[in-house]
Amino acid sequence: MAIERLVEPTMAENDREEEKIEISLRPTTFKEYIGQQHLKNNIKLAIDAVKKRSDGSTLDHVLLYGPPGLGKTTMAGVIAHELGTNLRVTSGPAIERAGDLASILTNLKDGDVLFIDEIHRLRRAVEEVLYSAMEDYKLDIVIGKGPAARSVRLDLPKFTVIGATTRTGSLAGPLRDRFGIIHRLEYYKEPEIEQIITRTSKILNTEIHPEATTLLATRSRLTPRIANRLFKRVRDYADVNGDGIIDQPTAIKALELMEIDHLGLDPADRNMLKLMHENYGDRPVGLTTIAALTGDEATTIEDFYEPYLLQLGLLARTPKGRVVTEKGRKHLQNSKNKV
Ligand code: ADE
Repeated sequence: MAIERLVEPTMAENDREEEKIEISLRPTTFKEYIGQQHLKNNIKLAIDAVKKRSDGSTLDHVLLYGPPGLGKTTMAGVIAHELGTNLRVTSGPAIERAGDLASILTNLKDGDVLFIDEIHRLRRAVEEVLYSAMEDYKLDIVIGKGPAARSVRLDLPKFTVIGATTRTGSLAGPLRDRFGIIHRLEYYKEPEIEQIITRTSKILNTEIHPEATTLLATRSRLTPRIANRLFKRVRDYADVNGDGIIDQPTAIKALELMEIDHLGLDPADRNMLKLMHENYGDRPVGLTTIAALTGDEATTIEDFYEPYLLQLGLLARTPKGRVVTEKGRKHLQNSKNKV
């Protein structure tokens, strides 16, 4: 059973409080959205073009990919807001049958944005309905059964799909081809994370000293969702143990309590590196073996642990499996790691 992790970039399921705060922190305009400049420039241009044409054309379908927590859902909200249209949010696993998708699609209005999170997890039958809907705004449905069955083609409103996925590799080619705009969300730069923390502190009405902001930014795995989550935990600590102001000593103590080290790794990350190193040294280890060592699902390792460890160069991917790098081994050695 996997450990519940504070630095997990997914949203904690069923955590209504977290969801509420996250929504309140979400920027709604390009101006407010910090970072991802390249993506913003491109989408802004596409939106401006749609607006200028004013001939009823809609924004091309957009595919956003990259590690979780970098703001794909937030970006979908910003796009809908900037277009002045409605956003409808769903996810691959939530659409169980083609009929579910049909009902979502027929309820859209011209220009609406349909956000499909985890689009790589759509079922094949649903995916096929989506192809023609995205391609020519038609919905092919079969009415009745047996010899009396007949196929009808319904017109759909002109909508834009924004698909989000952690991996484009697992997206079926024909589906991928239906997206006119495909972008990767990058890890944020530390100064951008600092800006996000500063913005959060203002929205949540909590004073934070600049040194504490910098410290939190360096522990946030360059991921806004984690930055905001750490901020909230440190704020709790400051409220309980101090005067509610987040200064550097408070931030250090709170991070120590959470066992988050100077690279932002938590006990689960270090445990994975340690198990790999102890059992395999510098030899490559297969994904399923790593999963067996840590007791996680292979997809959890691949989607959540690995991207940031690869980005830091603590882990490397080779054709034969994953290896703990020299840098990773050094980190483990030092990592009676002080915060
Ligand atoms: N909160 C979470 N992500 C953000 C972003 N990219 N810009 C501003 N605030 C955010």
